[in-house]
Amino acid sequence: MPDPTQTDALYDDLLELALEAARRAGTLLRDGRPADLGVAATKSSPIDVVTEMDLASEKLITGFLGEHRPNDGFLGEEGASIEGTSGIRWVIDPVDGTVNYLYDLPSWAVSIAAEKDGEVVVGVVAAPMRGETCHAVLGRGAYNNGEPVRHRPAPPLSQALLGTGFAYLADRRAAQAEVVRTLLPQVRDIRRGGSAAIDLCDVACGRLDAYYERGLNPWDLAAGTLIAREAGARTGGRPGQPASHELTLAASPELFVQLQPLLDELGAWHD
Ligand code: IPD
Ligand code: CA
Ligand code: CA
Ligand code: CA
Repeated sequence: MPDPTQTDALYDDLLELALEAARRAGTLLRDGRPADLGVAATKSSPIDVVTEMDLASEKLITGFLGEHRPNDGFLGEEGASIEGTSGIRWVIDPVDGTVNYLYDLPSWAVSIAAEKDGEVVVGVVAAPMRGETCHAVLGRGAYNNGEPVRHRPAPPLSQALLGTGFAYLADRRAAQAEVVRTLLPQVRDIRRGGSAAIDLCDVACGRLDAYYERGLNPWDLAAGTLIAREAGARTGGRPGQPASHELTLAASPELFVQLQPLLDELGAWHD
């Protein structure tokens, strides 16, 4: 059995480092955004873009965390991939909401999670243009700017405000549009905010009743799903599965059980 005081101290350290790394990266992104910011490269499709600032942010975060914890592993959207030997791995989205950032829309975030032996134990999502940083430590609740947050009590599905997002590949988007077409008449409304990490924090803070998306990567969902769960929401994927690339759903528990079978039935794609 691990010594609980040692685990607590480790989680405290990881949280402090994640908060500081996210604060530094957020400041760089907010204050250092070039007025003429353009697309540095495209990835899976012509609309899947990366800017020089995504790369600079990931470099800053991995440099800072690596300096303090040289034996940890890293997984970052822009290429960081280190195995590590300590049992801790950092999962980093240096800019979640790159398209918003490119257009100077405010909804973008830095997302940093720490996994211990494969389980997410710390999550930080900093959204500098909102002036908000959400965080959670496994078993200790969820916070926004240091204040505890809680998911919203579930309304009937017909009164629920949902968030979602769309992948960068055209065939997946076609399937996602079909899901929206079916779901939209059954709910209050559907938002597409442009940052999965912020959407998950919005569930945690009671600003969305639910959020779902297919096609997310670990760096999109690691920190945000912990924050949503620690705020009392339920998170998961396809029935019996954790949140994953196939499906990520976060909602108050009562809505979760209604939405999960519905989403599972609707618009699946085959990779
Ligand atoms: C994207 C955002 C978006 C979601 C996409 C993600 P990125 O991440 O989270 O809201 O719909 O699926 O890929 O590329 O801006 O880091
Ligand atoms: Ca992302
Ligand atoms: Ca990103
Ligand atoms: Ca991206």
